[in-house]
Amino acid sequence: MSEEHRDELSGVETTGHEWDGIRELNNPMPRWWVYTFYATILWAVVYVFFYPAIPMISSATKGYLGFSSRAELQQDLDQAKLGQAQFHEMIAAKSVQEIDADPTLREFAVSGGASAFKVNCAPCHGSGAAGGPGFPNLNDDDWLWGGDLDGIQTTIAHGVRYDGDPDTHVSEMPAFGEILKIDETRQVAAYVWSLTNTPSSAALADAGKQVFMDNCAACHADDAKGKVDMGAPNLADAIWLKGRGEDAIARQVLAPRHGVMPAWQGRLGETAVKQLTVFVHSLGGGK
Ligand code: HEC
Ligand code: HEC
Repeated sequence: MSEEHRDELSGVETTGHEWDGIRELNNPMPRWWVYTFYATILWAVVYVFFYPAIPMISSATKGYLGFSSRAELQQDLDQAKLGQAQFHEMIAAKSVQEIDADPTLREFAVSGGASAFKVNCAPCHGSGAAGGPGFPNLNDDDWLWGGDLDGIQTTIAHGVRYDGDPDTHVSEMPAFGEILKIDETRQVAAYVWSLTNTPSSAALADAGKQVFMDNCAACHADDAKGKVDMGAPNLADAIWLKGRGEDAIARQVLAPRHGVMPAWQGRLGETAVKQLTVFVHSLGGGK
């Protein structure tokens, strides 16, 4: 269909395409559309000239400006590292007490410690450090091994009952299964429970006091408030690491369970341990 044909009504030339007697009008594109189209072509040409654009075998064409998003990111990272290096040096040189007392350093240590905590500690202590059965809550005022900066630092650096570190905390509760008669075990369990709750029998609890003084006070103290140098928890508060109730206490007496925590100094280095210490201390329970 090469012959020219005009639409009778509008007088516009048709494209020559015809379907069932309907012909397509050959109207020109609107001006604004055509100019925008030319502008985008021009933009593309300018872009290809200045910026990396055409993919080659191992990289793209470089472009006149030599721009690279990777190089730009690297520059940002280098700058950030340089800024942090100063802080890391200061943290390495100072004690945890000095870091805690300096507001800028403390802020840096707390935020670095918080992110190290998420990666290394949250699997056991929980992302909010609230712990769980067998894993102590680090937000409260109850400390097995001491809640001042030095105590926390020692625990994090060397761990608890951790074979790989000669300076780890080692104290363990003996199994009393062969030392105490079963009656005495019931009595002492009732006594310990009576310190914070109503015991199953007041007579049992009364009898248990002497058993406690003879067998337990050496580690848990006469008033049962615990001793941090033994890692022996306070039994006169409502916080139970191993389980609540007389049965749970009796189980711990007969066959004690012991928590193990890895040492972190060798793994993360001293500055990370210091940051973690200041962070854990800042959680609110620090002394
Ligand atoms: C594999 C599990 C595990 C991981 C991981 C772990 N902990 Fe522990 N953590 C424990 C256990 C269990 C205890 C309690 C030990 C005990 O019973 O005396 C503990 C105790 C502690 C204590 C002493 C609490 C107290 O009351 O004195 C601190 C502080 C502590 N952890 C900090 C950390 C930090 C910081 C990290 C990360 C760098 C971490 N923990 C990672 C299991 C873990
Ligand atoms: C040699 C020191 C030592 C002696 C003696 C000892 N304990 Fe313990 N006890 C510990 C330690 C250490 C723990 C904590 C274990 C852990 O953190 O994993 C503990 C934990 C406990 C717990 C668990 C507390 C909780 O919060 O869940 C109870 C209950 C307990 N002891 C009762 C007793 C009683 C009762 C006696 C005496 C019959 C006794 N202990 C004697 C060291 C001792």
